[in-house]
Amino acid sequence: MGRETVILKGKSSGERAEAGTEEKFSRTVLELARHPKNMGKVEDADGFATVTGPCGDTMSMWLKVEEGVIVGAGFTTDGCTSSIASASMATMMAKGRRIDEAPRVRPEEILDALGGLPEENRHCALLAVNTLAASVRDCRERRRKRDGMETAG
Ligand code: FES
Repeated sequence: MGRETVILKGKSSGERAEAGTEEKFSRTVLELARHPKNMGKVEDADGFATVTGPCGDTMSMWLKVEEGVIVGAGFTTDGCTSSIASASMATMMAKGRRIDEAPRVRPEEILDALGGLPEENRHCALLAVNTLAASVRDCRERRRKRDGMETAG
């Protein structure tokens, strides 16, 4: 059987993941890198945040909330293959959760759901979790301001 070489889009253009005995990424990561879930901006979002990780890559997330439940989540990133897969997974996990519960998503959950990440890319899951938490904070902040205005009015 021949070896499959997968060339993935990402900041580090030409990044390669070789399937077979030296497989670097799980099938889930490869699938989400090829076909990201929830990639892109969410219109009329209730929360938005951009976070830059220690690696220098940036991730943005948008959340749409109805009656305290996250009904829409989207992301963009200029980061690596692992960041695309991590953000896809984080937004999938966020959808359907109560806004209060979303910040409880842990990097370990993302890593488990992805079937793991190479050691040098584990921080990409943390970037996704931090961006999700920052988006939730923005939702709450906007809501506080809105509620304050309604009270004042
Ligand atoms: S290496 Fe920067 S987000 Fe993955």
